[in-house]
Amino acid sequence: MQRPQKQTINSLLKAKGKRKLTMITAYDALFSKLFDGTVDFILVGDSLNMSFGGNSDTLGITMENMIYHTKAVCNGAKNTFVICDMPFGTYIDEQTAFKNAMSVYQQTQADAVKVEGGKSKAHIVKNLTDNSIAVVGHIGLMPQNVRSEGGYKIKGKDALNIKELIEDAQAIEKAGAFCIVLEGVKPDAAKQITESVSVPVIGIGAGLDVDGQVLVWSDMLGFFDEFQPKFVRKYLEGASLVKESVAQYVQDVSDKKFPSDSEIY
Ligand code: KIV
Repeated sequence: MQRPQKQTINSLLKAKGKRKLTMITAYDALFSKLFDGTVDFILVGDSLNMSFGGNSDTLGITMENMIYHTKAVCNGAKNTFVICDMPFGTYIDEQTAFKNAMSVYQQTQADAVKVEGGKSKAHIVKNLTDNSIAVVGHIGLMPQNVRSEGGYKIKGKDALNIKELIEDAQAIEKAGAFCIVLEGVKPDAAKQITESVSVPVIGIGAGLDVDGQVLVWSDMLGFFDEFQPKFVRKYLEGASLVKESVAQYVQDVSDKKFPSDSEIY
């Protein structure tokens, strides 16, 4: 399903309640080109530190790394709205956040940045949006809190937490975020949060009653096969296909079946 033109913040806002939005992560031009023009947004997620970098969490990625990958993604995806994740520690105060977000805009063609945090980060979101940086929020399970919270904890399990999540969503919407990623939240809570704001809420592990879905490309295409979170649907057995193909290549070389006459100058 090819989309006619690149989304804008206005077209994404208008989609709320009318059609479901789709977001996928990408870390390079090769894959972003394959996704270009099909999904509504591409997220250069800091999850690249895990699936691409082989690390156990997202915390070690730097602004420099994110800019490198975001440049590559934008080179491949000329027709898709691109979001760059702000790494852990790069938006601790308003000045630091603005300086780092400005370098994303100056050095890449990204359309927006994403920051994790609700009420406590609303002043950062406001300062960015007041200074012409488009911001996507990220609330619920926030992977950058994995060490401080002692693991990945599902949110929205009780009325008090649902109230806090609604306040988080409303605080960042008020601060100017035009979209919110909602991760690892019970479906009933996700529904209430989605209904409490007028910006699109994109869920991951948050059920159906949100405005759209996001998946990490290497999970949904089956390249990351160390474990499969419950919310991931695998649309391709990428790892098996790659392993079989490489094994076949090794076999062909050792059997002297590669290169053939047509593959020689
Ligand atoms: O870094 C990432 O890939 C993300 C998604 C899980 C939403 O933030």
